[in-house]
Amino acid sequence: METPIIAPSVLSADFSDMRSALSRIASSGAQWVHLDVMDGHFVPEITFGRKMAADLRPLTSLSLDVHLMTERPERIAPAFLESGADWVTFHLEACVHAHRLARSIRDSGAKSGVSIVPSTPVSALEEMLDCVDLVLVMTVDPGFGGQALIPSCLDKVRRLVEIRASRGLDFLISVDGGVNRSTFEAVARSGADVLVMGSAFFASPDPAAEIAAVRAAYGLDGEGGRPRRV
Ligand code: DX5
Ligand code: ZN
Repeated sequence: METPIIAPSVLSADFSDMRSALSRIASSGAQWVHLDVMDGHFVPEITFGRKMAADLRPLTSLSLDVHLMTERPERIAPAFLESGADWVTFHLEACVHAHRLARSIRDSGAKSGVSIVPSTPVSALEEMLDCVDLVLVMTVDPGFGGQALIPSCLDKVRRLVEIRASRGLDFLISVDGGVNRSTFEAVARSGADVLVMGSAFFASPDPAAEIAAVRAAYGLDGEGGRPRRV
């Protein structure tokens, strides 16, 4: 698969019509389906649980990219793994034994991801970068779609690109929150591999055009922002 990987977030879809949401994602050329799981504790809203992943699984061949915005993610991650999630990402801030959880996700055959909120530094992750397949950098405070990207969070993406190269690691770097036409270029230049897109994707009259605009941004020269095989 070639980067940038686009992961539309169904948080911004009509929950009463998830089949249409999946069709919209598939026909746009996006590669992943991002599922935002909110528990009403780690973040104020509540979205859905494992049944959503289980019900969507047979309807799409795209990767299911589960983003757990929950406390005690170790309690709920196994249910998503059993439901067919391809990627399970949890928050470092919500889990004491993050290293153990990342390894157990991998051991189940899925890809493990860890996420940090805007106030958490990259240094908090350094001891576990060798046991994750993805780092999700939140570029808004998690909990809601439609917020503005916090530009300084992209410095963390650059830092992760450097660390990955210096340590010879190969995790993907995902950016989540406020990714839209105004921010595509900055996100591309930061070197992010995966772009989560909620409101910009589902509000667009032409989602394929949004994907094309992202890919165009990745054709730009710059330190990051070049497509690469992953
Ligand atoms: C926010 C979620 C995001 C959300 C992004 O807490 O993790 O995945 O869907 O929405 P936009 O793209 O509208 O910022
Ligand atoms: Zn998300």
